[in-house]
Amino acid sequence: MADTAPLSTGTDGVEGGVGLTALLVAAARAIETHRPDSLAQDVYAEHFVLGAQASAHWPVRLEQAPGGDTNPLWGRFARYFGLRTRVLDDFLLRSVRAAGIRQAVLLGAGLDARAFRLDWPCDCVIFEIDRDGVLAYKHQVLDALSAEPGAVRVPVGVDLRADWAGALTAAGFDPATPTVWLVEGLLFYLPRAAETALIDTVDRLSAPGSALAYEVKLEKDLTAYRDSPLYTSTRRQLGIDLLGLFSLEPRPDSAARLTGRGWTASVHTPFDFTHRHGRGPLPEENDALAGNRWVFADRTGPA
Ligand SMILES: C[S@@+](CC[C@H](N)C(=O)[O-])C[C@H]1O[C@@H](n2cnc3c(N)ncnc32)[C@H](O)[C@@H]1O
Repeated sequence: MADTAPLSTGTDGVEGGVGLTALLVAAARAIETHRPDSLAQDVYAEHFVLGAQASAHWPVRLEQAPGGDTNPLWGRFARYFGLRTRVLDDFLLRSVRAAGIRQAVLLGAGLDARAFRLDWPCDCVIFEIDRDGVLAYKHQVLDALSAEPGAVRVPVGVDLRADWAGALTAAGFDPATPTVWLVEGLLFYLPRAAETALIDTVDRLSAPGSALAYEVKLEKDLTAYRDSPLYTSTRRQLGIDLLGLFSLEPRPDSAARLTGRGWTASVHTPFDFTHRHGRGPLPEENDALAGNRWVFADRTGPA
């Protein structure tokens, strides 16, 4: 069992800046795990939260959050992350089971423990890209738990604003084999040019039969939601100003870019999946989630 003393990894890791958002998602997954109507199970999530100084006092169960389900952060926003986790778990498992893909890349993997908690075919290789400090913290926690991945797991510490394709290839990634790519909770933090470069790189490295899921925000002006319950409660309860971390540049139309290069793409609101699963967030007034879209794309055409 883990040594539960909080670990400090500095602002390059999870203790500050954008790395802190990885802890936010982990806390949401911990809460989702303990819900009686849970959509996704992540037994590692609460260890990430309780092991870091910045989050050791955060709730990991809904009953620890003031107001429970009515708390905009730990109720509705956490449920959003729980639903997203479930939908993207299903996407990955469908890709390896039904489509037979054997190579996965998690971009901005953060504290995503899918390599450890999903039932992967054992001949899968899973690459996890994030910054060194975030991956170092992840490894400290998982090592302390003696966690074992269910497939071959290859962490790649690199900044996604730099030439990450070289680091991925050097780590053993094979562009000739179909890949399932996951870009969950990442693109909002990247400048417009970095998103376009990332999509182009995914396209270039994707053999026919590859699949991609990513999340975007469609709003032209994210700051219009500065006073929304969701952003306000995240600022007040955690001191995290998400709008201060997001890139506020106009976003590129990455789905159209992929379609122009031989991919088929389908674009969904999170609320589509709330209806599909019978639980999850619903639209509300002044809703910071209104522009969120989950995009699923397949490379059907030639690479
Ligand atoms: C909100 S977290 C999401 C983590 C994970 N995908 C999940 O859903 O649990 C965003 C992650 O993106 C990573 N990230 C943001 N900008 C990055 C960059 N330029 N290079 C590498 N990773 C980055 C952060 O370190 C963080 O782990």
